[in-house]
Amino acid sequence: MLLLNASGCLDALTAPDVARSLDAFVSKTITPEPRQGNAPVRIAETDLGMLNAIGLANPGREVFVRDTLPALRALGVPLWVSVGGFSAEEYAETCAQLDDVTIELNLSCPNVDEAPESAAEIVRACRKVTANPLYAKVSPHSWDMGELARALEAAGADGLSMVNTLRGIALDARLRPTLARGSGGYSGPALKPVALAAVYAARRATSVPIIGMGGVTSGRDVLELVACGATHVALGTVLFADPDAPTRVRAEIASELALLGVESIDDVRDVALDSVAKVAN
Ligand SMILES: Cc1cc2nc3c(=O)[nH]c(=O)nc-3n(C[C@H](O)[C@H](O)[C@H](O)COP(=O)(O)O)c2cc1C
Repeated sequence: MLLLNASGCLDALTAPDVARSLDAFVSKTITPEPRQGNAPVRIAETDLGMLNAIGLANPGREVFVRDTLPALRALGVPLWVSVGGFSAEEYAETCAQLDDVTIELNLSCPNVDEAPESAAEIVRACRKVTANPLYAKVSPHSWDMGELARALEAAGADGLSMVNTLRGIALDARLRPTLARGSGGYSGPALKPVALAAVYAARRATSVPIIGMGGVTSGRDVLELVACGATHVALGTVLFADPDAPTRVRAEIASELALLGVESIDDVRDVALDSVAKVAN
């Protein structure tokens, strides 16, 4: 099992040691053109997590490929590049410019239709232009995660990343939205049950590798995602509060496995699915 960061939750160039404590580093989503992102306020705290409306701020693919990518390569950590866009062609054009990295397609970009057919169309367009490993990252809003997972695999995805943030609103003392944009992406501990259910449904529908993420803060959370079918796990919001989370979480995984009386994380793989199948029989 690999431990990664979730896209947008770690700047590897300002925190290289944190990036090196992971098995692979995932970049912030890159779009064809540079984006300033949304006006502030872009972050809001809530009782059980945070809301962000960063708006995909990034330097654009030209600067990313020319300047950022070589600097990231120098870190010596396997690289994943998160690709975004506003049409299938835009996604594919960026994929065609990326060598020697795993590509994660962020299918939850603003103005991108997240219906299974549209998501599959983006994956198909990218598959045609790259032989790199191709992951499709999905939002938790999909009505039928199993159907979506099957459609993405059929379109050529080598793996799935799940889940992105849920849409949410926080209000200030005067009952106005805290975020300038009104709503934003909700992440953190409250997302864990949603992520578990999404991974669980996708694992029942496909056999491709799944990166599980959403509300992971501890080694126990990692085991829960793996028990529901995740192959690898990514840390997101937790990294803002605790940059040492990768090292801490690895130590916690070891102690949780000892508590369960099993030797390896492979012993808990898919056990949540197996137990339900047994009950159903
Ligand atoms: C501040 C912030 C920025 C994010 N930026 C991106 C992004 O650029 N691309 C992307 O695919 N997901 C982005 N995400 C979503 C995370 O990668 C992750 O899917 C989500 O936060 C759920 O995991 P968590 O609850 O552990 O944070 C962002 C999340 C946060 C909190």
